[in-house]
Amino acid sequence: MAVPVRIHEVGPRDGLQNEPGVISLARKVALIDLLSRSGLRDIEVGSFVSPKWVPQMADTDQVLAQLTPVPGVRYAVLVPNMRGWEGFLAARRDDMVTEIAVFISASEGFSQSNLNCSIAESVRRLHPVVAAAREKKVAVRGYVSCVTDCPFDGPTSPQQVADAVGQLRELGPMQVSLGDTIGKGTPARVTRMLEAVLGVAPAAELAGHFHDTGGRALTNIEASLALGLRAFDTAVGGLGGCPYAPGAPGNVATEAVLDLLQRLGYQTGVDHDVVAQAAELARAMR
Ligand code: HMG
Ligand code: MG
Repeated sequence: MAVPVRIHEVGPRDGLQNEPGVISLARKVALIDLLSRSGLRDIEVGSFVSPKWVPQMADTDQVLAQLTPVPGVRYAVLVPNMRGWEGFLAARRDDMVTEIAVFISASEGFSQSNLNCSIAESVRRLHPVVAAAREKKVAVRGYVSCVTDCPFDGPTSPQQVADAVGQLRELGPMQVSLGDTIGKGTPARVTRMLEAVLGVAPAAELAGHFHDTGGRALTNIEASLALGLRAFDTAVGGLGGCPYAPGAPGNVATEAVLDLLQRLGYQTGVDHDVVAQAAELARAMR
């Protein structure tokens, strides 16, 4: 029997947060509703972050209010602090399964740029968030950014990444998604990074999150599969870009990853045709 791989669709969040033009609520909801019917089981739909920092995600409460939940799909949102948690709590609905994603960086430079604080402070802010989520029985996922390179600090050492993953998992049990934020990773460096991280977390509790800026996301996914990872974040239509590399491709495209996994004999349960339709919709938003 084919080995299952779980795809976390992050296009409506990681993709759209980077798009320069205004994207209407109706178009976001239409994209999410189409993706919900594709067999995907995890869709990241927005962020409860400061609207001054990421204006594109300012309507996440409305996105949650208007989307049509499909049974079996878990809808995730990013939460950086208690203010974000409160926003999520106010918007959350009883008729859908939700998850929050907390995020830190493996490098200090990106932590300052993305969260306006040190890594240690970002983890400290997450303590009450994870405790509150646990109390309300809301699932928590973690992200570590800049797992191979930081746009400010240069290459990230594998040990820095392992330390960051360990700090997140001290907050509570969670899958941690490893972000090659600026898409500079190579299979050899991704392998060395994963070997270090596997010392603190099992492969079953890790995910790969590759931006395709350098055109190596698919080979980096292959390197991760070889070390036992079975969950990957992707964005339909390759939505999004990298603010540090204008015009560069964004997250690795869901449809490309589905094709790769099918060719390698893995099973995702995702309908390629529906994803292709969603990719068309996504490309029309750029
Ligand atoms: P700050 O300015 O240091 O925060 O930002 P503050 O606590 O001093 O608050 C400043 C203002 O923001 C206040 O409003 C707060 O109320 C408000 P004001 O009084 O000025 O009107 N505020 C909030 N508003 C809404 N929701 C909130 C919230 N918190 C404070 N949750 C903060 C700190 C964390 C808020 C800011 O830095 C921020 O929002 N950062 C988020 C950046 C972000 O979303 N980046 C993209 C996601 S991460 C990513 O893409 C990487 C990933 O894909 C993996 C990978 O590829 O590596 C996950
Ligand atoms: Mg990302």
